[in-house]
This record gives sequence, C-alpha cells and structure tokens, in this order.
Amino acid sequence: MTTYKVGYLIGSLARESINRRLANALVHLAPRELDMAEISFRDLPIYSYDYDADYPPPARAFKQALAAVDAVLFVTPEYNRSIPGGLKNAIDWASRPYGQNSFTRKPSAVIGTSPGAIGTAIAQQQLRSVLSFCNSPQMNAPEAYIQYKDGLISDRGEVTNPTTEAFLSTYMQDLHAFIMRVYTVLPRGA
Ligand code: FNR
Repeated sequence: MTTYKVGYLIGSLARESINRRLANALVHLAPRELDMAEISFRDLPIYSYDYDADYPPPARAFKQALAAVDAVLFVTPEYNRSIPGGLKNAIDWASRPYGQNSFTRKPSAVIGTSPGAIGTAIAQQQLRSVLSFCNSPQMNAPEAYIQYKDGLISDRGEVTNPTTEAFLSTYMQDLHAFIMRVYTVLPRGA
C-alpha cells in the first residue's frame, strides 16, 4: 500500500474554530492511505522579503514541514469574503525566497465551513487563485462548501449528519485519488 503524507493548514487560529472541528472530522474520515498531520502557522511573524536572506526559526520549520508532505489540504474559514490574513501570511512565507516556493508541484485541496449559506465559497475561490499562482496542482472537484449548523461536528470530530459525513468521506477518497494521479504524472523526487 502506497501512503501519502498530507499536511493540513487550518485557516483559523480561534480556540473554538469550527474549521478545526471540520479538520478533525476529515482526519477521522481519511482513507488509511493518507497520513494526516497538521502544519501550524501560528508562530510565524508577518512576512517581509527582508527575511529572505535568513528565515527565522518558525519560518524554517514551517517550510520544512511543507517539504516533508506529499500534499496540502487547506481547511479555512471565510473572513470578510476572503481568506484570513494569517493564512495568507503563511502562504507568502511558503512561497519565498524566490525560487524556493514550497507549493511548486505540490498537490493541494481546499475546503471550509461557515455558518453562512455559501459556506466559504468566496474565500475558497480566492485561495484557489493564490494557489494557481503558486503552481500547485489543485483538486478541482468536488468543491466543498460546508454550511456549519450547531452540533454538526462533535468535539471529537464525529459528524452528526449522515449525508454530510458521507460527502466528507467521499471528499477524502477523492483527495487520495487526486494525489495518486498527480504523482503518476509527476513522480516524487522527479
Ligand atoms: C467572519 N465570518 C464570516 N462568514 C462568512 O461566511 N463570510 C465572511 O465573509 C465572514 N467574515 C468574517 C470576518 C471575521 C473577521 C470573522 C471573525 C468572522 C463568520 C465566520 O464564518 C465564523 O466566525 C466562523 O466561526 C469562522 O470560522 P472559525 O474561525 O470558527 O473556524
């Protein structure tokens, strides 16, 4: 069995984040071929290219964590119809120094939840645009705009709505299939 390491970034730093709940659920539902691990960006300072000559330790650790995974899953809220600033900052760190973009040829996927009816759709479209520029092959389908209702996901990451649980399970299976396809065309280390 070939396994793939998937690093997941949770766009919210909030203690009670509903996107952290969603990420926990996705970890539970992931097929066993996917080895899921969170990549935190909490300790990153605000990026400036003045750091490019000598990245500080949290930024080095962040880039090393990205280098160690086969794919990246973004689980993000929508803030003011975009992605949270902390997540954009993390992506900016990852994309530099010039020529050392951590996302080049690294498969990615996007998902998110919000109490609003469109379930982070606008933030996700903006994130897709950023990831395109960063040359990350992205899973285009299924799209996953999850409207969060109270109690949808328990503290332990159990999904209480069977339809949503089935959808998220399929999403993770499709993520596995997508990662396999990318590495069939672009073998690891090539
Ligand atoms: C929000 N929220 C929000 N929701 C949405 O659907 N579209 C939006 O543009 C915004 N904008 C927004 C801005 C800011 C600064 C905050 C704090 C919140 C509501 C948001 O979906 C809700 O707070 C979620 O709980 C955020 O997800 P996390 O942080 O709990 O994972």
